[in-house]
Amino acid sequence: MEKPLQIVITGASGFVAKNLRKYLSETNVHLISISRKNFKSFKNETKIISNNYDEKSLLPKIKNSDALVHLIGIGKQSTKTDYESINIQLTQKIVNLAKKGKIKKFVYTSGLGVSTNTSIGYFISKFKAEKSIIDSKINYTIFRPSYIVGKDDLFTKYLKKAIKKNKIIIPGSGKYSIQPISIDDVTKLISQSIADEKFKNETLDLVGPEIISFKKYIQLFLQKKKTKLYHVDIEDAYHLAITNSKFDYGVDDLNILVGNFVGDHKKLRNLSKMNFQSVKELLKTGTLL
Ligand SMILES: NC(=O)c1ccc[n+]([C@@H]2O[C@H](COP(=O)([O-])OP(=O)(O)OC[C@H]3O[C@@H](n4cnc5c(N)ncnc54)[C@H](OP(=O)(O)O)[C@@H]3O)[C@@H](O)[C@H]2O)c1
Repeated sequence: MEKPLQIVITGASGFVAKNLRKYLSETNVHLISISRKNFKSFKNETKIISNNYDEKSLLPKIKNSDALVHLIGIGKQSTKTDYESINIQLTQKIVNLAKKGKIKKFVYTSGLGVSTNTSIGYFISKFKAEKSIIDSKINYTIFRPSYIVGKDDLFTKYLKKAIKKNKIIIPGSGKYSIQPISIDDVTKLISQSIADEKFKNETLDLVGPEIISFKKYIQLFLQKKKTKLYHVDIEDAYHLAITNSKFDYGVDDLNILVGNFVGDHKKLRNLSKMNFQSVKELLKTGTLL
């Protein structure tokens, strides 16, 4: 049997990380997963708890790994945590760690909508994170995801709670587009990008085969349920997002939705040769409910 790949995962307790770790643990890999808090490990997995990703303690444990998948990121700021320190500086720290540790491959999930022209703070932080990875000269794959759909993603959890309260808030018209991709396809793609040379130094939109309006997505999610959809005027939605941190949507959630971002699915399909799951079909099965 071939020597298993050694793969480091940061932000191990997050939604994408948890699903990726589960998927990879069933393949011939050894995982080294790092989180700030304790978590249950899968088979073939070494668990590391680290609050600040301190180089001195981490470097000896991860050096010479085949890949590092960097899944730390925030999409909402507060006085306690901001894009500069997490999306930019912590990414730079992990890149330095990967470089010193002679890690062969760096995989990062950025955001769909990142570009040199962006004026959104969230995307600017992701742009700078991307740049620090590219500048490091480590072989990289950068994915720019639209909404990643799974049983346990943040928006699915929101919808399930909102169904119980019989009130789903839709900012503005809900006509803006999303291009959702299933978490199962995402885990396969990340895994493929580690091993497959075709993914070397590529920046790819991580988008599914269908473009769909936000409102339509919610309607499909609900299936036959009669949950009340409550349209909030977009100005009011921004006001609430700015003044109330507990509002259903953050300022950058709204920016991303109104930004109407869609991506290049064809490039992803041609490169991966994968058969992608239809998110519409996935919703119809009711497995997310
Ligand atoms: N899910 C999506 O639809 C989507 C779409 C576009 C982009 N992305 C990007 O993909 C990545 C993973 O997304 P996700 O949905 O899995 O996010 P998530 O569930 O929020 O996980 C992100 C993880 O980042 C780590 N983290 C957060 N704040 C931190 C801090 N102050 N210090 C150290 N670590 C911190 C946490 O890991 P621990 O708790 O383990 O420490 C957290 O679980 C993120 O960069 C996100 O921006 C996701």
